Amino acid sequence: MTRRSVVTGCGRYLPERIVTNDELAKRVDTSDEWIQQRTGICERRIAADGEKTSDLAINAAQKALSSAGISADDVDLIVLATATPDETFPATATRVQAALGMTKGAAFDIQAVCTGFIYALNIADNFIRLGQANTALVIGAETFSRILDWEDRSTCVLFGDGAGAIVLQGTDNSDSAAPRGILSNHLHSDGRHHDCLYVDGGPSSTQTVGHLRMEGPEVFKHAVNNMASVLGEALAANDMTAEDIDWLVPHQANKRILDSTARKLKLSREKVVITIDRHANTSAASIPLALYEAITDGRIQEDDIVVMEAMGGGFTWGASLIRW
Ligand code: COA
Repeated sequence: MTRRSVVTGCGRYLPERIVTNDELAKRVDTSDEWIQQRTGICERRIAADGEKTSDLAINAAQKALSSAGISADDVDLIVLATATPDETFPATATRVQAALGMTKGAAFDIQAVCTGFIYALNIADNFIRLGQANTALVIGAETFSRILDWEDRSTCVLFGDGAGAIVLQGTDNSDSAAPRGILSNHLHSDGRHHDCLYVDGGPSSTQTVGHLRMEGPEVFKHAVNNMASVLGEALAANDMTAEDIDWLVPHQANKRILDSTARKLKLSREKVVITIDRHANTSAASIPLALYEAITDGRIQEDDIVVMEAMGGGFTWGASLIRW
């Protein structure tokens, strides 16, 4: 019997406040033209004062449950990916669990920065395939605006806040020759690259929250190579080629990274789902936010081959390949 995890619902939440490039140009020495040309970003959402990562996550999770047509009572696992939790502990996932009224099962956070959603998906998929859970909420939620150095033009223009969530359910499709659901996951990390992308604070080092620091061009180079290689790995594991991909839903860090990755794989740009122009880089939230758009506007259809991939601080990187 082939037990697979199928996506049965998706939701998102974006804070109301839109911050344009022109607005940022009043704060740091930058311009709308530079930001658009170098990154593809036009605007981003920024959480209101007092609006926490859990608030974003709860909203997205509620929408995902309602789109799946289930209630919190049906959920037995929440895996929440975030690098910007409400508090050092407890896990932000437990706040979501309480707000949804879910009292059984387990809820926890995982941290792989921008690759967080892929890590969370892989973990939830393993729980489901092993029979330890049947219905999981997988959430990516971030308030990166809280850890940006708003004086540093090389980083503060790149990020935004938001949350996306999916419902993942176990299905036994033993009869099907082409079973639907997650077909494979591929995770990597290489901790030697810590200094390229990190936050210069934390409870056990400085006892402060800290700010994001990044060697942009170095990250760019690794991102294109790692995203292309893990995508190749996912295709090879499933005896597929780039031509088999219906939709690539990548982490949204820089439009030029997405274009270069697509070029490297000879993948048509129309197959790449892009939201970076409106959301900027929302770290662990960017993939479910992009997924939400491609599902609700009807691009992603049942049985489509969908590949998600990401790369982030650490470095961490990974991909998941799904027959939708
Ligand atoms: N506005 C105007 N100029 C800026 C600027 C901004 N917001 N940020 C940097 N610059 C300047 C730099 O100071 C530099 O000036 P100089 O030539 O006088 O020294 C110039 O633009 C080029 O900087 P550089 O860093 O080489 O630009 P780039 O083309 O590599 O673009 C990034 C910078 C950050 C957009 C790009 O490197 C990038 O996207 N990297 C990957 C980031 C990423 O993906 N991070 C998350 C991973 S999950």
